[in-house]
Amino acid sequence: MSIHQLGRSTFGDVINSGNLMTIEEANELLNDWVPNERLRLHMKQVGALMRTWAIEKENADDHTALKWELAGLLHDADWEKYPNDHCRVIIEELERRQIDPEVIHCIASHGPRYFGVEPLNNMDKMIYAFDELSGFIHAAALIRPTRYEGMDAKSIMKKLKTPSFAAQVNRDDITDALSRIDTPLEELITFVIKHQQSVQ
Ligand SMILES: [Fe+2]
Repeated sequence: MSIHQLGRSTFGDVINSGNLMTIEEANELLNDWVPNERLRLHMKQVGALMRTWAIEKENADDHTALKWELAGLLHDADWEKYPNDHCRVIIEELERRQIDPEVIHCIASHGPRYFGVEPLNNMDKMIYAFDELSGFIHAAALIRPTRYEGMDAKSIMKKLKTPSFAAQVNRDDITDALSRIDTPLEELITFVIKHQQSVQ
């Protein structure tokens, strides 16, 4: 992967704190920037996981839940069209649109090894934890005749230990992300299975 470090650690402007966009506006951006339906689904899944986590675990109000969802929804928005500049392009677009700096920092820190930005708050840590795991679990669902139905966390944990399965998913990133939060892997997998299966 030819992803470059971002080379900076502050994003957006605090003057724009609280400035979000609607889900419709975010979806419009995705439709423009991301022709690949599978990648769009991935972002919608991570968006839904972020939103649900914020509400269920962080007691988030509507505005905060939207903030978490937007970060998930937009985190890979530039991946398809600008693979060599992944993250930088969407970050600059959100800065141009004067979006809340926490949303931008969250996106910038979703892969610390690649972008060189450390996850700081819970929103940052959860996008990092959900990103690879969500894709991995969806890959596992696609090869099951019944998809998500009857899927359990144990079978996913076993597949994570099988390097040949979904080999492109970096297990070290999952381990590193999990080391930064208090939720055990099995519990997080159960949450992902439960909440991303209905996302379309
Ligand atoms: Fe992603």
